[in-house]
Amino acid sequence: MMAMKKSFSLLFFLPFLLLAIIYFVIFPNEFRLQSSLAACGDSAPATAADAVAKAAPDIRVLLGVLTRADKYERRALVRLAYALQPAPARAVVHVRFVVCNLTAEEDAALVGLEIAAYGDIIVLDCTENMDNGKTYTYFSAVPRLFAGEPYDYVGKTDDDTYYRLGALADALRDKPRRDAYYGFLTPCHADPRTQYMSGMGYVVSWDVAAWVAATPELQNDLKGPEDKLFGRWLRWGGRGRNVFGAEPRMYDYLDGGMRHGPTCFRHLLQADTVAVHKLKDNLKWARTLNFFNATEGHKASPLFHVDH
Ligand SMILES: *[C@@H]1O[C@H](CO)[C@@H](O)[C@H](O)[C@H]1NC(C)=O
Ligand SMILES: *[C@@H]1O[C@H](CO)[C@@H](O)[C@H](O)[C@H]1NC(C)=O
Repeated sequence: MMAMKKSFSLLFFLPFLLLAIIYFVIFPNEFRLQSSLAACGDSAPATAADAVAKAAPDIRVLLGVLTRADKYERRALVRLAYALQPAPARAVVHVRFVVCNLTAEEDAALVGLEIAAYGDIIVLDCTENMDNGKTYTYFSAVPRLFAGEPYDYVGKTDDDTYYRLGALADALRDKPRRDAYYGFLTPCHADPRTQYMSGMGYVVSWDVAAWVAATPELQNDLKGPEDKLFGRWLRWGGRGRNVFGAEPRMYDYLDGGMRHGPTCFRHLLQADTVAVHKLKDNLKWARTLNFFNATEGHKASPLFHVDH
């Protein structure tokens, strides 16, 4: 009788045990996702696109990808590209997509779904057809949005730039945490008094973002190319004086099939890249991700066949 009861309860639990094992084997990432969610606090919801270090991080970076709500396909690609990057050592780099108010009905619903699924979107108080001022709105909103858990550095980039987050964190680690302005200096090799960090992406220390937020005078200087303006604001305010040019580790994409040749700001992909810009179509993204071995982790399976 006892033996029967025992084997009955074993039989009863066996399917649940099997389910648990199958779940763990098929969705091991769920567990990683849960732990990064727990680690992140309320101001920065974690997502699959987060690069959260395992060892105690000594640097925290926010990288805002300025994009438009309706660019679903590009956003999916960029999110995937960052999700598959190896997590940087000893660093937290949060990649967030930055859009203006969701005015179209479909964007409110569909971007809302993305926010629910990934939690990696920041909606700023601005309108997208405004040709100027989004960079200002972004840098002036971040200090307030993340006041509870400030970052060491705040970066801005576009959805045609691919950063290698570990390389970025390593490049910033030994830089001053105050008054810093890191990126690709343009025009290259020009008079430093005329240079600013190119729109391919740049990073400032938290105090510089806080200064932008606390300086309403900048609102009188929002007309013109945004990244050039940003450089002008800093020069005017005497901020970001620790200037670090990342040439040649940040550059515009070039491959052999293109008409133009290399310049000081454009060259072939290289292994120590921090960021590559002008990834205007899927083929350029594909070649870039291949170069950086993003697809290396694929296991062989009879279910698919990937040639490249
Ligand atoms: C954006 O949306 C918020 C909340 O609905 C609203 O208060 C604000 O005026 C909007 N901003 C713009 C620039 O349309
Ligand atoms: C990609 O992998 C190949 C083969 O393992 C290696 O030789 C190459 O250096 C890697 N590329 C980069 C950019 O890490």
